[in-house]
Amino acid sequence: MSTLVIEGGRTLRGDVTVHGAKNSALPLLAAALLSDSPVVFERCPPLSDVKASCAILRHLGCTVVETDSGVEVMPDGMCRTYIPERLMREMRSSIVFLGAMLARAGEAHLCFPGGCELGPRPIDLHLSALRQMGVTVCEGGGAIHCYARDGLHGATVTLSFPSVGATENVLLAAVLARGETVIHNAANEPEIGDLCRFLTTCGACITCGDGTIRVRGVHRLIGCRYAVMPDRIEAATYLAAAAVTGGELMLHGVEPSHLSAVFSVLQEAGCALVAQEDRVHIRAPKRLHRVELIRTMPYPGFPTDAQAPMMAMTALAEGTSVFVETIFDSRYKHVAELQRMGASIKTEGRTAIVEGVPRLCGARVNCTDLRGGAALVVAALGADGVSEIGRVYHLDRGYASLVSGLERVGASIRRVDGT
Ligand code: UD1
Repeated sequence: MSTLVIEGGRTLRGDVTVHGAKNSALPLLAAALLSDSPVVFERCPPLSDVKASCAILRHLGCTVVETDSGVEVMPDGMCRTYIPERLMREMRSSIVFLGAMLARAGEAHLCFPGGCELGPRPIDLHLSALRQMGVTVCEGGGAIHCYARDGLHGATVTLSFPSVGATENVLLAAVLARGETVIHNAANEPEIGDLCRFLTTCGACITCGDGTIRVRGVHRLIGCRYAVMPDRIEAATYLAAAAVTGGELMLHGVEPSHLSAVFSVLQEAGCALVAQEDRVHIRAPKRLHRVELIRTMPYPGFPTDAQAPMMAMTALAEGTSVFVETIFDSRYKHVAELQRMGASIKTEGRTAIVEGVPRLCGARVNCTDLRGGAALVVAALGADGVSEIGRVYHLDRGYASLVSGLERVGASIRRVDGT
């Protein structure tokens, strides 16, 4: 198992180029199953979750070529409709293959993605929407067997919560279905927009607006070249790292309009931000100010995935900051690790109260989950002394070339590969 060794207290300065978004690349790779011809994804980030998606596509019979510049999928060889538990468990968001397999083959067999580090991750919204579209779902012993014996048909689906994954699954099921599908209270995250843009480029007929997505089913989709949108959470993590070290960074390859809620928090903390086209420049003050309230919300609200890195930032701010996590039940596992570094944080239910301290101390800590791990990296960069961060495999799921990216802007960070 690998460890990150970070000597904190170095001011970050320089340029960082953000990768393609993990949360966009994963549904896009599943969507490639719907195309008649090869699909090339540019800017597909080299992450373990992307590799897991590629492994699922290969298992299903597709040819997948991973190169430095992207991923090419030849979907015509698809010959299986079953994802083994081993592959499902590697990446919990593999559930997004459900809608794509149903659309392509009329059936899908997989297991429940299971509970995870963020608390239970039910898929009731996915399944009830798919049932409305003509899918028979048989559940038992942790397995799900889904059949659309007479093909999928359009339906009017109202999600009780704008679930990102459920919206993606319904979209994937709808693009080749008979008739029109309307998704009310659909998720509005930029990654949903990216999926719609890709599908439309391939020939799908989709319109979006006011929380409603309309899909008119078409007979076929044709492959294309498509560049994955920039990763707004990777960008938010680098911005938090710049802020906590009193640094100054220029981020390249970002979409500033996706980061408005994150920018507001950083500005309240005293950072100066200038956004231009696909770049954003941040200059942090010597000591950060508190942020009165950070409430995670569906987009365009503050993203739950940026909660942990921002919490690490506020741990070193002057004054008390309050977080309210409204998306997931259990997303404060990183708090205990931050406390080991000297952070003063109290949690009660969905609320966390952070009393900023003047300094954090390097410590031995473990990543609890992907974004919790990012919080530890941010805290370690701002702490006095050396931190050793274990369970780095969580970070490998969502941060490409993190060590070299941070090293290039002045961090003292190295990865030690254990046995
Ligand atoms: C996606 C993102 C994840 C992000 C989250 C919220 C990917 C690969 N992952 O996860 O990084 O944190 O969106 O922005 O894109 N829920 C139900 N029933 C369902 C579906 C969801 O109760 O059928 C609940 C979940 O338990 C959770 C909330 O809805 O509390 C949000 O989940 P959802 O939006 O579906 O997140 P994911 O798609 O899993």
